Amino acid sequence: MSVSRTALVILAAGQGTRMKSDLPKVLHKVAGAPLLHHAMLSGASLDPERSVIVAGHGAEAVQDAALELDPDAITVVQADRLGTGHAADQAREALADFDGNVIVLYGDTPFIRTETLDAMVAAREKNAVVVLGFEPEDPARYGRLVMKGEMLERIVEYKDATDEERAIGFCNSGVICADSKLLFDLISEIGNDNASGEYYLTDIVDRARARALAVTAVTCAEEETMGVNSRVDLARAEAAYQARRRTEALVDGVAMQAPETVFLSFDTVIGRDAEIEPNVVFGPGVTVETGARIRAFSHLEGCHVSRGAIVGPYARLRPGAELAEDTHIGNFVEIKNAQIAEGAKVNHLTYIGDASIGAATNIGAGTITCNYDGVFKHRTEIGAKAFIGSNTMLVAPVKIGDEAMTATGAVVTKDVPDGALAVARAKQDNKPGFAIRFMERLRALKLKATEE
Ligand code: UD1
Ligand code: MG
Repeated sequence: MSVSRTALVILAAGQGTRMKSDLPKVLHKVAGAPLLHHAMLSGASLDPERSVIVAGHGAEAVQDAALELDPDAITVVQADRLGTGHAADQAREALADFDGNVIVLYGDTPFIRTETLDAMVAAREKNAVVVLGFEPEDPARYGRLVMKGEMLERIVEYKDATDEERAIGFCNSGVICADSKLLFDLISEIGNDNASGEYYLTDIVDRARARALAVTAVTCAEEETMGVNSRVDLARAEAAYQARRRTEALVDGVAMQAPETVFLSFDTVIGRDAEIEPNVVFGPGVTVETGARIRAFSHLEGCHVSRGAIVGPYARLRPGAELAEDTHIGNFVEIKNAQIAEGAKVNHLTYIGDASIGAATNIGAGTITCNYDGVFKHRTEIGAKAFIGSNTMLVAPVKIGDEAMTATGAVVTKDVPDGALAVARAKQDNKPGFAIRFMERLRALKLKATEE
């Protein structure tokens, strides 16, 4: 078998009018990642030597997004949207010296599986051009694949199709694989004499057949080719993607009582025997280790939860939250950019931001790290085995030593040495009988007012 070199071309210049959005279509997100990233990740499984992203509508934002995921991606701009053939042609220069297979993916059809792309590359050995087809429940307005035995004769767009052709159930997903030199030769021959006045990439099939080259179609499941053209489609794509990821997590040994209520990101990593209770939302960048427990209604993003940790119910972990083993983060607690060392507990109604908390330290209910002065953020450093009394305000920058304590209700503005107790609140003064006398006076005043 020949070693096949691969280049990827992703068409992402379209506006996506039906999204009714200022955001370019391919930047709308599924599971926390733009559609463009899903397409790039799908193609990345082929280990392409080059990836060319064709941007157009909102080009700058699309190019930035492409480079954010893959700094080596080559971005080109299609200034006028003259059709998919014209879009693919924009990659000609970037691939001029490339010798190998080109896979063209559509940015709005981003969920093609690795196995499917592999099957296309394999079929390329015996065919000059390979197209990915599928048999949708409702063929609607997809391009139709006109087959003759194993041979794909041409692709006809719905708008240009006869009634007989519209009756064909085998449709074009948009993914095409061809040898680089041949692809651009065939594209040169495409015209725009059709119902849309566009240069259709799909016309390369007809052109290849005119040269008596072999062209075939590989089939995949409909859900892989799910195109996103409207927000209805986007929601449907999200649901399908979530269903797939949840099943993968269960298969990998993650415990979920109500997986249909758990929302995962494209990059969520959860270890086996971790338990995810109902209604948990994972934003991007979360790793949960084996045996950790994320309790109901918690929201996590950009954080790491180690083995044996318990989070929630109703906890919020924001970017930079690092939870060591056996930590406890309880209800209505928010942690941001903070390292919580082994066995530390932050159990109730607390905000910990820009901080570090030492091992086995206990943070009392209602504690706040006052990290923001309106302009700058400041750090709070708390040692090991410390005890922070309920309702302590830690006015950062401030350091609390190992085995130190703060009194309940303290407003701590100065560092607390190891082993010391910080009391920073007004002294209590009891006035005997005052409450009774005070209430009697108020009631008397009220009586007088109603008599007048
Ligand atoms: C295309 C196919 C159709 C297939 C369908 C599958 C053609 C002619 N038709 O139709 O056979 O069934 O996809 O979803 O290819 N794009 C550009 N520049 C352009 C035009 C399009 O970059 O000038 C990009 C779009 O951003 C999109 C992709 O190409 O990502 C497909 O374009 P779209 O207009 O959605 O094509 P369809 O009409 O859906
Ligand atoms: Mg489309």
